[in-house]
Amino acid sequence: MILRIPEPEVMNDPLQVDAYAAADFSGTDQAMVERICTLLQSSGASFGAKSRLLDLGCGPGNITARLARRWPHCSVLGLDAADRMIAVAEDRLRDFGLSHERLRYKKASLPIHQADQPADLIVSNSLLHHLHDPQQLWSSLIPLASPHCLVLHRDLRRPDSEASIDQLCECHVADAPAVLQRDYRASLHASFTLDEVKEQLLHAGLGHLRVVAVEDRYLEVSGWIMGCQAGSDQRRP
Ligand SMILES: C[S@@+](CC[C@H](N)C(=O)[O-])C[C@H]1O[C@@H](n2cnc3c(N)ncnc32)[C@H](O)[C@@H]1O
Repeated sequence: MILRIPEPEVMNDPLQVDAYAAADFSGTDQAMVERICTLLQSSGASFGAKSRLLDLGCGPGNITARLARRWPHCSVLGLDAADRMIAVAEDRLRDFGLSHERLRYKKASLPIHQADQPADLIVSNSLLHHLHDPQQLWSSLIPLASPHCLVLHRDLRRPDSEASIDQLCECHVADAPAVLQRDYRASLHASFTLDEVKEQLLHAGLGHLRVVAVEDRYLEVSGWIMGCQAGSDQRRP
């Protein structure tokens, strides 16, 4: 087992932001949207006209924009602590043919313990491993959630040896720009194991959420939580 090595939390370095925004993550981004559809379907739930979808650590908006396109009647909000990521996400709104009316981006740093508007879906992708304290994410979920909120969090999971890290880098980023290769390796070192995430969730009172390994390098946390706020419009199962 190798020890976790945290990496810088917020991605504000222009080189890093540009490389990330230029990379093609469409496969994993689309998989996230499809996974949400499957989770809704298997619970017999759907998003209503006033449902609110929230993407934490949204980066350049890759997944946020996909949410807005897939559920055009919902209002979608992307939050990120990095000014530069938010600026790129805003610039891309037009490229995606989306308007500020239903897709907004806002600079905000986790943890967030008070929500203006409760969310019916809270997602994050590749956020958890950036956080120096994972409770920044988990402790934010209940305050941000509507009374019946679907959550889906995906991230890398930490391999158990340096050799496995080398292998994953070789397999997945060998042809990527140098800055992405560096960041990918750092992210694998900074990520958590399945057992660590299960422990974090127990500590946060979210032990009922499902934690599973996905493919050779990801972990996924999913399930339904009861938020502390009222007033959303989700059609419950
Ligand atoms: C690897 S990027 C993932 C971006 C996006 N979710 C995606 O999948 O394309 C991680 C993002 O989390 C943001 N982040 C890190 N720490 C944060 C915090 N405490 N609060 C909010 N955002 C944070 C970073 O600035 C960065 O944009």
